[in-house]
Amino acid sequence: MRVRGARVSLFVTLEGPEGAGKSTQLRLLAARLEAAGVTPVLTREPGGTDIGTQLRALVLDTRSLMDPMTEFLIYSASRAQLVREVVRPTLASGGVVVCDRYVDSSYAYQGYGRGLDLRHLRAVSDAATGGLLPHLTVLLDLDPATGLTRAARVGTPDRIEAAGLVFHERVRAGFQALAQADPARFLTLDATRPEGEISDRIWAAVGPHLP
Ligand SMILES: Nc1ncnc2c1ncn2[C@@H]1O[C@H](COP(=O)(O)OP(=O)(O)O)[C@@H](O)[C@H]1O
Ligand SMILES: [Mg+2]
Repeated sequence: MRVRGARVSLFVTLEGPEGAGKSTQLRLLAARLEAAGVTPVLTREPGGTDIGTQLRALVLDTRSLMDPMTEFLIYSASRAQLVREVVRPTLASGGVVVCDRYVDSSYAYQGYGRGLDLRHLRAVSDAATGGLLPHLTVLLDLDPATGLTRAARVGTPDRIEAAGLVFHERVRAGFQALAQADPARFLTLDATRPEGEISDRIWAAVGPHLP
C-alpha cells in the first residue's frame, strides 16, 4: 500500500469495554499506517487536549458519586474540545485520526449502561461534534468478565470499571445494538481472537479508505 504524502482525511475510532484491546490495536494500526507512509494522529477520550485531560481526571475520579448526566456532559465537553482542536483540523489537512473511544462509548455507557435517554444523548453529542462521525468504527466485542480480568492486569479499576458486571453486560449489548444499527460504519470483531488476527482484520477494513 503506497500512500506516502497523499491526502487521506480518515477518522477511525476504536470501541469496546475495558480490556478489549483498544490500546493494543491502536498501537498496531498506527504501526501499519506508519509503514504505509501515513503518520496518524493518535488520541483518546476523554482527554486528547489540555482541557480534555483535566476533564478526564474529573470524570474518572473514584471518590466522587457522579450523576450520570453530569458524567455524560463532561465526556461531551471533552469531545467538543477534541473535535475542534484535533480531529477537524487534522481531517481538513488530509490527515488520519485514530481515536480510542468516541460518541458510541457515551451511548453504550451513559445510554444503555446508566439508562439515560438516547435521544437526549444524541442531540447533545451532535451539538458537541457538529455531527462528525468516524468513517470506520471498530467494535472489539468481549464479555465483561474477560474484559475486567484483562483490564485488572493493566492497573487498578477506576470508577467506571468498578461499576459491576450487570452494568457492563448492558454496555456490551448497547455496543452490539449500535453496531447492528449502522453496519456501514461499524466493524465488529471478536476480541478473544489473537491480537495479530484482529489487527489484520482492522487493516483490511482501513485499506479501502486509503488512496
Ligand atoms: N486479542 C487479545 N488477546 C488476549 N489478550 C489481549 C488481546 N488484546 C489485548 N490483550 C491484553 O489485554 C489487556 C488489555 O488490553 P488493552 O489494549 O489495554 O485494552 P483496552 O485499551 O481496550 O482497555 C492487556 O494486557 C493486553 O495485552
Ligand atoms: Mg486502553
